[in-house]
Amino acid sequence: MTNILAFETSCDDTAAAIVNNSGEIISEAIFSQIKEHQPFLGVVPEIGSRAHIEQINHIAKQAIDNSGIKLDQIDAIAATFAPGLVGPLLVGAQFAKGIALALNKPLIPVHHIEGHILAGWKDDGFFEPPFISLIASGGHTAIYLCDKNYNMKTLGETLDDAAGEAFDKIGRALGLGYPAGKAIDERGRKGDKKAFTLPIAFKNEDILNFSFSGLKTSALLTIKKHAPFDSNELNDFCASLEEAITTPLCQKTINAAKKYNISQIAIGGGVAANTCLREKISTMGQENGIKVYLPPKKHCVDNAVMIAKAAHVRFAQGKRSQLSADVSPTMPVEESFELYCQP
Ligand code: KG4
Ligand code: ZN
Repeated sequence: MTNILAFETSCDDTAAAIVNNSGEIISEAIFSQIKEHQPFLGVVPEIGSRAHIEQINHIAKQAIDNSGIKLDQIDAIAATFAPGLVGPLLVGAQFAKGIALALNKPLIPVHHIEGHILAGWKDDGFFEPPFISLIASGGHTAIYLCDKNYNMKTLGETLDDAAGEAFDKIGRALGLGYPAGKAIDERGRKGDKKAFTLPIAFKNEDILNFSFSGLKTSALLTIKKHAPFDSNELNDFCASLEEAITTPLCQKTINAAKKYNISQIAIGGGVAANTCLREKISTMGQENGIKVYLPPKKHCVDNAVMIAKAAHVRFAQGKRSQLSADVSPTMPVEESFELYCQP
């Protein structure tokens, strides 16, 4: 059995996990910085870096202590090296290098998007590649093709805001705090999705890209015009907003599967925790004879289990890195091979 200890610190969660090569989660620990960023209604990189430094030792210890395995049973150390906020990335990457050096174990740098795509690797219901993946989070929204060698290719992406960013910015105007996705989800379940008409970009166009900035402007103008909302109206607005965001996400993911003749879809990223999106993509998958894998909600948002899983895939392929490996805040997923040493 191979055990990988992995760290995720690319944004506002300090997370560590140990996963074995059967995909079994041996332990996981996470510290969410949300309370520290909430007063600013967004992630403040410097506060994030400092909080990661304060927490990472404690979170690593928690993951190791709760695993019931000894340090010498850990076979490799992984961390998110790209993309993300540079300060937070450096904290996890340098910490992982320190442990790899101390334990004399290989270092596996991981691309964060590969982590989201492989969050369900070896779970019941997850499948062998090739498959299509929709990743929608606060920083990314794109459709990928994962080929049989686990190489990822971007098929379409947002041309402006990410889906989670749209939820968060519109949610802020609704007074739902930060991040607002979960609160919109809870209210939307009680609302009428037809109550407000909000624009959907590229709805009938044969492209796999998204755009949410027009929706954002329209939603903010609607809020200005109708505010203050009573509780029922707020629920209705949230339901209508979810409809406008999730319809193109699901439709274009199904279109991608059909275009590339692939009958499996895996979703991921924080927005993949959204109830409306999960129901919609499942229904559309059934209607089109496409299998859809939905990771557990807690592994849709940022976590270290997904980094350990992606690391297992690369470790099994013989991918390793030197301790001099650097982080990259912007590396596209197609270039993730650059994280590893050339053979
Ligand atoms: O993947 P994630 O934890 O971090 C990034 O890599 O960005 O995603 C965070 C995003 C936030 O924008 C948050 O509002 C959104 O995911 N989110 C949701 C839900 N839970 C989290 N959006 C809609 N519905 C949810 N249930
Ligand atoms: Zn993420």
